[in-house]
Amino acid sequence: MELMKRNIDCGSLRKSDTGRIVILNGWVNRKRDHGGIFFINLRDRYGITQVVVDTTVAGGAAELAALCAELRNEFCIAVEGAVRPRPDDMINPSMSTGEIEVLASKILILNRAEVLPFQIDEESKANEDLRLKYRYLDLRSAAMQDRIRLRSEVTFAVREWMTANSFYEIETPTFIKSTPEGARDYLVPSRLYPGKFYALPQSPQLYKQILMVAGFDKYFQIARCYRDEDARGDRQPEFTQIDIEMSFVGRDDVLSMTEGLMGHVFKKTLGIDLPAQFRRLTYEEAMERYGSDKPDLRFDMEMRDFAPYVEAGGFQAFKEALSQGGGVKALVVKGKAVNPAEAQEGRGSPPGYSRKQIEELEAQAKIYRAKGMAWMKVAAGNALEGGVSKFFTDNAGQIISGLGAEPGDLILVVADAKRSIANIALGAVRSKLGRDLGLCDVKRFEFAWIVDFPMFEFNEEENRWEAAHHMFTWPQEKYHATLESDPGAVKGDLYDLVLNGYELASGSIRIHDSEMQKRIFKIVGFNPEEAEKRFGFLTEAFKFGAPPHGGIAPGLDRLVMLMAGQTSIKEVIAFPKNSFAVSPMDDSPGEVDKKQLEELCIVIGKVIPQIQ
Ligand code: AMO
Repeated sequence: MELMKRNIDCGSLRKSDTGRIVILNGWVNRKRDHGGIFFINLRDRYGITQVVVDTTVAGGAAELAALCAELRNEFCIAVEGAVRPRPDDMINPSMSTGEIEVLASKILILNRAEVLPFQIDEESKANEDLRLKYRYLDLRSAAMQDRIRLRSEVTFAVREWMTANSFYEIETPTFIKSTPEGARDYLVPSRLYPGKFYALPQSPQLYKQILMVAGFDKYFQIARCYRDEDARGDRQPEFTQIDIEMSFVGRDDVLSMTEGLMGHVFKKTLGIDLPAQFRRLTYEEAMERYGSDKPDLRFDMEMRDFAPYVEAGGFQAFKEALSQGGGVKALVVKGKAVNPAEAQEGRGSPPGYSRKQIEELEAQAKIYRAKGMAWMKVAAGNALEGGVSKFFTDNAGQIISGLGAEPGDLILVVADAKRSIANIALGAVRSKLGRDLGLCDVKRFEFAWIVDFPMFEFNEEENRWEAAHHMFTWPQEKYHATLESDPGAVKGDLYDLVLNGYELASGSIRIHDSEMQKRIFKIVGFNPEEAEKRFGFLTEAFKFGAPPHGGIAPGLDRLVMLMAGQTSIKEVIAFPKNSFAVSPMDDSPGEVDKKQLEELCIVIGKVIPQIQ
């Protein structure tokens, strides 16, 4: 077959190209027949060019007419023709090529397309599994092409900045010994050592630390990570981290390096200037003010402590929560948007929440283990009305002024014997309000650092302490003496970067001392033999002049997702898995040949349904 190779793409022709004879290759995006004059929108990744085929003129027209009649959407074709300006009334300013069209003299069908399972660019109407099954068609849409372009540009900008700042890009293995990050491992059976398995890395954590011992004091990697955990909008079983580690640094060095990286990426790819420094909140502040360790700071709506008003009121549930050492937290929902700036700060509409709406908010609080959510409305004349207001008639004025509320506002209160439940549950209500009131502008990027995380969390089910981040985090100096006696109070040199309500990155200053590492293993319940078996190579490495070091890992998928204004990372991954960890396109995971299993000495027993 004659190739008719393109000499220009479908997004480049302008009026100044008038008269040029060009060859275009691409896909039929749309075809219209105006009585023998065909208009074909020819598409490739660079844009769309309008091709005109006039089959009403003499000479070769019959052949062209037959060909045009056959053309359907997504046929892959080559077109040769002359560039000509469009008549003034046909100019399309929304297309980069909108001033011209190509009058075709020759068309070649490079490949035909069957009837499409969904129309390209209407992928949002197709169900997700259909989109993933025909991902190559889904990826042809302008929206997906744009997001994949953004991802490529972000990845390039990351490499550009890291390299310019003296980081080496070093690959670490994907067949490793299990590195715990809190999820289940994906395992790869070894043929040569039957009964033994490699694990796919949940992150390159241990390797990057060992690279520091090896003297590569600034490392990064665009690293694939694998975690067998339940899917969510911002989670995939296989995903990508911008993995970073540095030697001879303290926390603030890692933070400012990350700020520099984000600043470069946003400027280079979106043209957006980020602040040179991101605001910082301690974990405790974030939980108290926003009820989340990844607060969405695009709107204020801070939670307040309601405890000072409980004693004077007569509401028993609040008093009980406090007497049990818990917390009573309040949220003021502004009744009316006075102006757009105020709306942005969380002073959004609408006034007059209905009972049903309040019940929906309460349901949200209950998902996060609140027993209930009380409410009151602020009336004129310094009074409260509705809900639990009758218990607070005496100190209504004090509550209203103390919380900074105004007539028309709604006050929501959650009390619990566990302060953390009151915080988290009301924080979830805050997040829902942010979404419901349209306060989450996808074009705004509000970064913040969350620092001073607790080092350990108590696992009540297993009755033991576990690492809040991972076991390689350096406990802050002032807690070294009391690590074992009071693990709950220990703060780690840990930090998260949050963006618009998502955890974008996590990192820490690491332990570089084998004795300290052993103490931490012991606190989280690894006996010395088990710790030696699993991480002996790391503690061994620390014995040979390991430098102090620390690092961070922003999730590339989440970063691009937020930059692209999306809420699912599937929208920025070329071939993601669906919510059940399946790829509908190639139908993986799949069964394998009996012979392959035999070689691996694997016998599939009775398949036991998964217990979640
Ligand atoms: P962590 O486990 O917090 O830290 O992961 C770092 C970042 O990786 C992204 N991420 C994910 N993205 C998509 N799907 C997932 N399943 C998923 N899990 C995590 C998030 C997250 O903030 N080794 C440490 C980092 C370090 O200490 O340097 C680590 O992996 O954006």
